[in-house]
Amino acid sequence: MFKAPRGTADTLPEEQPYWRYIEEKALETCRLYGYGRINTPAFEDAGLFARSVGEGTDIVNKEMYVFKDRSDNELALRPEGTASACRAYMEHGMDNLPQPVKLFYFADIFRYERPQAGRYRQHHQFGCESIGDPSPMVDAEVIHMSRNFFLSLGLRNFSLQLNSIGCQNCRPGHLKKLIDYFAPLGPRLCGDCQARLERNPLRLLDCKKPGCQAAAEEAPKSADYLCDECGAHFESLKSYLQALGIGFVLNHRLVRGLDYYTRTVFEIQPAEGGSQSALGGGGRYDDLITMIGGKPTPAIGFASGMERIVLNLKSQCIAVPQPAKPAVFIACMGGDARVEAVKLAAVLRDGGIAVISSSGERSLKAQLRLANAAGVKYAAIIGEDEVKAGTVMLRNMETGEQQETQPDELLKLAGSGQ
Ligand code: HAM
Repeated sequence: MFKAPRGTADTLPEEQPYWRYIEEKALETCRLYGYGRINTPAFEDAGLFARSVGEGTDIVNKEMYVFKDRSDNELALRPEGTASACRAYMEHGMDNLPQPVKLFYFADIFRYERPQAGRYRQHHQFGCESIGDPSPMVDAEVIHMSRNFFLSLGLRNFSLQLNSIGCQNCRPGHLKKLIDYFAPLGPRLCGDCQARLERNPLRLLDCKKPGCQAAAEEAPKSADYLCDECGAHFESLKSYLQALGIGFVLNHRLVRGLDYYTRTVFEIQPAEGGSQSALGGGGRYDDLITMIGGKPTPAIGFASGMERIVLNLKSQCIAVPQPAKPAVFIACMGGDARVEAVKLAAVLRDGGIAVISSSGERSLKAQLRLANAAGVKYAAIIGEDEVKAGTVMLRNMETGEQQETQPDELLKLAGSGQ
């Protein structure tokens, strides 16, 4: 017996209303903020992610699905969506359009992580990227948008975690302070963090191991080492958020797991669930496009995991709209009746009415049980008598009343929703 690969999941029909609900709210949010949809390939040149997400990150080092195709190209299943959106922005000359260019996507994302609740090897993201504008007003708008998206879903009890990790100019100063602080703690740090000290000291701040977390709490804060420009950017952003009435928690340990970020980083954290349960996250990435060969282009975006949203909708008992039940069930008995049943189903569907049709193999009682289970309003029963008379026996499944009806009448009745 084959099973879905570890860390992947089937989304069965009964789960679909959650996904549809999220997609509709996402589409409406994007309409309000002026984002246009983009689809990019599920796999890209592996170098695209190595250069942008970063060679020193877990995502590229440990989690990326890399493979060679039959022409020896080294490809990777996308481990995130931002680099692809930026690659497309460059490839299609979107820098010639009025800036910023605002793109959104729904994308399946692949990361070889240790599966657990809300953590998959294939997950799905709704993501937005605003490319081409350096203003902190855009940061505030993207944060407002992500927060309003979650609110529009009915979700409550989440916090906005905020930090600034500076730029190429001021980050080295902070990194030096971090190394000075962490180096003497060497043996008290986990093996991964000891390696990070050399490769990627910022990452020490978001280690999930309790010993490292305690040490990170007291570590030098990036916001204390910002250059004047980054400091002014962060202050402006905070004042816009205050003006918008958006509460935030300054979290100096928030550094995010991707190397392309500059200045603003943020995460939306549900009140319940640990630090690995973020509903969404994002930030500014002013250097990403230069990292992948383009000209300097400021940008900011965010993405949210659809599976995490579904989990939170369920844990907060948020009811989502269910699809309408079919209106009519057609039951039939006998060979001639089958022909009429096939014709009636076609006429009703042509008239826009949703129909379930029985193949007439079972007893009438069994067919009506199916009609009941399907939650239809009407069962149209066709037996030998109805075939002869050119009629159907219409049964109202709620009241149990039956009456002989012409097919046209049924079309009108079911169409009117009565
Ligand atoms: P990220 O924080 O790695 O950011 O992922 C975004 C969101 O995807 C997370 O907040 C979480 O909800 C969900 N997620 C991540 N990994 C998993 C997983 N293994 N299973 C289920 N859900 C997961 C990015 O990917 C950036 N590209 C976001 C961004 C857009 N930054 C700027 N623009």
